[in-house]
Amino acid sequence: MCQTALHPFLAALPKCEHHMHIEGSLEPELLFELAAKHGIALPSPAVDPAYASVEALRQRYEAFTGLDDFLGYYYVAMSALVDASDFERLAMAYFTRAASQNVRHAEVFFDPQAHSARGVSLSTVVEGLTAARERAERELGITSILIMCVLRHLPPAEGVALFEEARGAGYFGSGSDGEERDQKQPVLGGIGLDSSEKPFPPALWTELYGAAKEAGVRRTAHAGEEGPAQYIVDSLDMLDAQRIDHGLRSVLGGDEAVTDALLRRLVDQKIMLTLCPLSNVRLRCLESVADFPLRKLLDRGVRFSINSDDPAYFGGYILENYCALQEVFNLSVREWESIAKGAVMGSWCADRRKWEILQEIENVAGEWSVGLGEQ
Ligand code: ADE
Ligand code: ZN
Repeated sequence: MCQTALHPFLAALPKCEHHMHIEGSLEPELLFELAAKHGIALPSPAVDPAYASVEALRQRYEAFTGLDDFLGYYYVAMSALVDASDFERLAMAYFTRAASQNVRHAEVFFDPQAHSARGVSLSTVVEGLTAARERAERELGITSILIMCVLRHLPPAEGVALFEEARGAGYFGSGSDGEERDQKQPVLGGIGLDSSEKPFPPALWTELYGAAKEAGVRRTAHAGEEGPAQYIVDSLDMLDAQRIDHGLRSVLGGDEAVTDALLRRLVDQKIMLTLCPLSNVRLRCLESVADFPLRKLLDRGVRFSINSDDPAYFGGYILENYCALQEVFNLSVREWESIAKGAVMGSWCADRRKWEILQEIENVAGEWSVGLGEQ
């Protein structure tokens, strides 16, 4: 637990999470349990000592050398997810943890291609995740949407085929881009693009994103995590992405003229960055949380949210990310209120749900600002 005076406020603050890979919430305990259940052999500890125990694996997770090193462990761990009940259990564990940190709405990524490659169908994954979403809303009061990600290290045509499969199954309904067009929430709320960033530039994905746009499906894309600021520009120009996941290089891109123009564009077009400080440190995109460009984002008025990315791997869920920032940047209640509200406004839930959460945030921030003597 962080030692800041605001810790109880940060815990109580209603939150929206937009950048959380459900497979990245697979804790080592559940990984070993599911592997045993299905008789799946994880790599031998003689080959990789990280697989000797839960503790050894956790320790290894503290020493990633970069995105691809992490992704190696991430894809191996997924091999333990086999049937719909595994996905339901995984997602319920996340929703339960998120609810305990006052997440009120979550937009959750999943990677179907990493499962279909092992013979686990899209429908199996969607069935398990949907069961968890419905339970989480009923039992925990968390609303959520699922965002189907395409892996950028695989051929673009396979991403298009996956999109067509999901569309053919009716998972996108009549599209997710409109405001509750047919009153019924589609099974999938959008598409995303993840996995190794370099050397897979946005230009490879124009067909997929064009098809999604045409079908009225919402679009986000990882960009500017390890890759250059230009990947963010191209995701906006070529893919018409409506949100950018990470987007760190929009602020820390090196070339001041490029980043200045990009930041202005993000503000003008209200494009939200879904940022993940603990992930950035674990994957060595930043040396420390102190290098996270929080002040610049706030000063420039960029819309952003703070998220956990792959919480089982990066040392914390959403609250631990908020706390890590607070320990360094010592924000006020009102500043956190504005961050939390920005996250609501950038969410893809219905307006009605946004107003509910905004009201909850105002109530909590109001109480705490009075209690702490802030204006
Ligand atoms: N898949 C899961 N986590 C990811 C990350 N941080 N970047 C790209 N792809 C991912
Ligand atoms: Zn991510």
